[in-house]
Amino acid sequence: MSATLSTRFELNGQPVEAKVPARTTLADCIRHHLLQTGTHVGCEHGVCGACTVIVDGAAVRSCLMLAVQAEGAKITTVEGLSNPDTLSPLQAEFHKHHALQCGFCTPGMLTTAHALLSEEPDADKERIREVLSGNICRCTGYIPIVEAVYAARYAYRKDKTPVKT
Ligand code: FES
Ligand code: FES
Repeated sequence: MSATLSTRFELNGQPVEAKVPARTTLADCIRHHLLQTGTHVGCEHGVCGACTVIVDGAAVRSCLMLAVQAEGAKITTVEGLSNPDTLSPLQAEFHKHHALQCGFCTPGMLTTAHALLSEEPDADKERIREVLSGNICRCTGYIPIVEAVYAARYAYRKDKTPVKT
């Protein structure tokens, strides 16, 4: 049995603390200890992308990171991308483009796309495909997902200049 350790970080803007066995993944800590179940767990070994969260601005597979490694980090999950009353522009474009069916992959798609567009709001479709290539969807198909991310770029522009195509 591994030792129980304390880890403190910021989760969706709120300071949190969890006492977890040392080998607990960040994904399990977020879901089972902090009860934020929007982050999904599929393969548990870094292949499917369903568990992607944003750690200090970067998209990270939370099944490959230990909870204790998150000490002091700022973490955003899919719950942190919008408020409870409205869809974010990115979520709205997923809805508009029918970019989900069962929704299992969707939290990882949204967090990955959010991290990308926050850094590269003029990302073209090739770049979007490249970045999303590590996220597996087994029912929607990728074209509507790429179209949705592409259409959401306007929301990430700081200077409101037209997005390059
Ligand atoms: S559950 Fe983490 S990449 Fe699949
Ligand atoms: S919407 Fe079902 S796996 Fe992507």
